[in-house]
This record gives sequence, structure tokens and C-alpha cells, in this order.
Amino acid sequence: MISFSVAFDPNKGIGIRGALPWHLKDELKIFKRNTLYKDIVMGQTTYDGLPRKLVDRYITVASIDPDYHPEDVTVIHDLQAFLEEHEYDEKEYIICGGASIFRQAYPYARKAYVSFVKEEYEVDTWFDNFDMDDWDVVVEEDHPDFIYRELSRRPCPECEG
Ligand SMILES: NC(=O)c1ccc[n+]([C@@H]2O[C@H](COP(=O)([O-])OP(=O)(O)OC[C@H]3O[C@@H](n4cnc5c(N)ncnc54)[C@H](OP(=O)(O)O)[C@@H]3O)[C@@H](O)[C@H]2O)c1
Repeated sequence: MISFSVAFDPNKGIGIRGALPWHLKDELKIFKRNTLYKDIVMGQTTYDGLPRKLVDRYITVASIDPDYHPEDVTVIHDLQAFLEEHEYDEKEYIICGGASIFRQAYPYARKAYVSFVKEEYEVDTWFDNFDMDDWDVVVEEDHPDFIYRELSRRPCPECEG
């Protein structure tokens, strides 16, 4: 199964200058809680921009660079093939950004962990194809700076045979 974990502001902004626009401790704790000991997938830009190493997670990084070989991670060069291969797996693969990876993975995701940041931030990167109409809310937690929701993909009537 493909899922994703994201935090975005009211304009679906997710990043600025290769980093997160905010520093929200509680949000990082939720990210850790959801991803620890799991398989997570991210783009090269997001991986290279991490402020510190993410430990105790199985990390896959999407990159088109054939010479990109960071330590302790699996590198994939064809994200589409990865998504098609794992779409119906019982095991969960959590897509963790950034924008280009979210955009491509969005149609495959059946579950989402989303922090709706309350304040507007200066951003240069958006998760623009996210659409709340595609999802049902299964968990909701109100925090001072964001609302955390776990989402489940709505059945699509047109997709039924
Ligand atoms: N708020 C959040 O929850 C959150 C989460 C994660 C990241 N972010 C933010 O998002 C921003 C980064 O997003 P981004 O879109 O610039 O970068 P990104 O998605 O992290 O990474 C892009 C990289 O992935 C490669 N790539 C793209 N599609 C691919 C494919 N189909 N197969 C193999 N490799 C592929 C790209 O290659 P090319 O060179 O060909 O493009 C590029 O090297 C940062 O500001 C980061 O902090 C925010």
C-alpha cells in the first residue's frame, strides 16, 4: 500500500529553499510516531535537505542521477515503476515528499497522514494536486499550530467495474 505523510499550510505550501517553512516540534513528533521502523520514500532534494539523519527507518530515495549513492538508503531511478510494483502490497510505503514525489504518488495513495498548518507561510513549493474531496477523515487531532488528520481514500464510483 502507498500512503503519504505531509504538512501543508492553508495554500498547500510545503517548502521553501529546500527546507520546511516552519519548525513545529509537535508535528515532527507525529512524523516520527508514524514513520518509525517503517518504509519511507522521498525525493533526492528532500533527502539532501534533511537537517539530520532519520534513524530507525528504511529509506528509499528517488533520484535520476545514476551516480547518487548515499549511505544506508536504497536509491530508485524510476518512481513510477516503484509505485506500480507496491500499490497493492500489504506492506505500507509512506511517501514523504517533496513536491515532485507527492505529485506523482498522489493517485496511488490509499491513506494519508496530513498536518494542516494553521498559519500561512512564505513558500516556493506546493502539494498542488492534493484534493480534500478525495478523502474521508478517520482521525482528527487539534494542536495549537496545526490540525492533524489521518485520511482514507474515498471509494471512486466511476472506478468500479
Ligand atoms: N511539508 C512537508 O511535509 C514536506 C515534506 C517533504 C519535503 N518538503 C519540502 O519539499 C521541497 C522539496 O521538494 P522538490 O519537489 O523540490 O524535491 P523532491 O520531490 O524532494 O525531490 C526531487 C528529486 O527527485 C527526483 N525525481 C523526481 N521524479 C522522479 C522519478 N519519477 N524517478 C526518479 N527520480 C525522480 C528529481 O529528479 P529531477 O532532477 O529530474 O527533477 C529530484 O532529484 C523542500 O522544500 C522540502 O523541505 C516538505
